[in-house]
Amino acid sequence: MNLKVTLPTTQGDLVLKNPIMSAAGTFGYGIEYEKVMNLDCLGAIVPNSMALTDGQPSTARRFYQSDYGFISSFGANNISYKTFIHEILPRLPYETTPVFIDIKAYDLEELTEFVSILSEVKELAGMEINLNCPYGNYAVPSYWKNGAQLEEMVRKVKAVAGKKILWFKAPTAEYPVQQIVDAVQDNGGDAFVSFNAIGGYSVDIETRKFRCGSGGGGGYSGPGIKPYALMCAHNSCKTAKIPVIGGGGIVCARDVLEYIMAGAHAVQIGSANLMRPDFMERLIEELQELMDKMHIESLDEIRGCAEYI
Ligand SMILES: Cc1cc2nc3c(=O)[nH]c(=O)nc-3n(C[C@H](O)[C@H](O)[C@H](O)COP(=O)(O)O)c2cc1C
Repeated sequence: MNLKVTLPTTQGDLVLKNPIMSAAGTFGYGIEYEKVMNLDCLGAIVPNSMALTDGQPSTARRFYQSDYGFISSFGANNISYKTFIHEILPRLPYETTPVFIDIKAYDLEELTEFVSILSEVKELAGMEINLNCPYGNYAVPSYWKNGAQLEEMVRKVKAVAGKKILWFKAPTAEYPVQQIVDAVQDNGGDAFVSFNAIGGYSVDIETRKFRCGSGGGGGYSGPGIKPYALMCAHNSCKTAKIPVIGGGGIVCARDVLEYIMAGAHAVQIGSANLMRPDFMERLIEELQELMDKMHIESLDEIRGCAEYI
């Protein structure tokens, strides 16, 4: 039995030791976790989002644990990408565990400039472009909201990415799956990450204030959204020729198998890392045990096997 996963990409096959990787914003920059788990056990590492220019963190309360999930609204709380590349990345096990940077940008010019800079960083396997962008620039609609703009973005980013692998991550909203997956795959994207979060709010009825985020709320994720996020993954898989990386609400190995059986190649783990710092290492062990128990030899054997009743 093995947990290996192969993702065909425009740069050749990307082989991951297993399908488990961190989701941006929930695993620090990786090294914060090196004392509690073996980082090299992961399929891939996606650290906190980064931008070309340093931004301002949100001054409102940024995180709230609600019933069945988490609401987060962090703003641009990134460290400088130069600090990450020079001081942190060399300490990650990038030779055996591919590292992908999730990118935020203010506009297309900044995005392409940043991808072009990162394309020269030998320790990086690739970049994950967040379709919520442009961040903080309300003059330009988010990339995913305009088909022509999205296609242009994918083409321009691809043109400067060199040999790096490019993933595109779904927005924090309900989105037109086929249109977005097509725009990504028809213009050179290597994989689609099918879920980010949905919008969420919470009100403290004692103080009569919204609990999180300067605009009243943020992205809602965690166990409560798993059925919805699984639908996003499955619908993406139905239309995608490129690999789909699922995620959303995963808290155990059975959840991982649900995503693989719905068609995903790999999965991202988000808020479960906040509940238990060594969660992903334990999840990989649990996945191995579950597959043994279920006599599943490889994930290829079960990918997309779920049938409608
Ligand atoms: C505290 C927190 C911060 C997050 N920050 C980002 C981010 O900066 N960029 C991003 O693309 N997604 C971000 N996300 C979304 C996660 O990457 C992930 O897609 C989402 O949490 C769904 O997975 P989960 O249900 O396992 O938490 C964040 C999520 C949380 C909980």
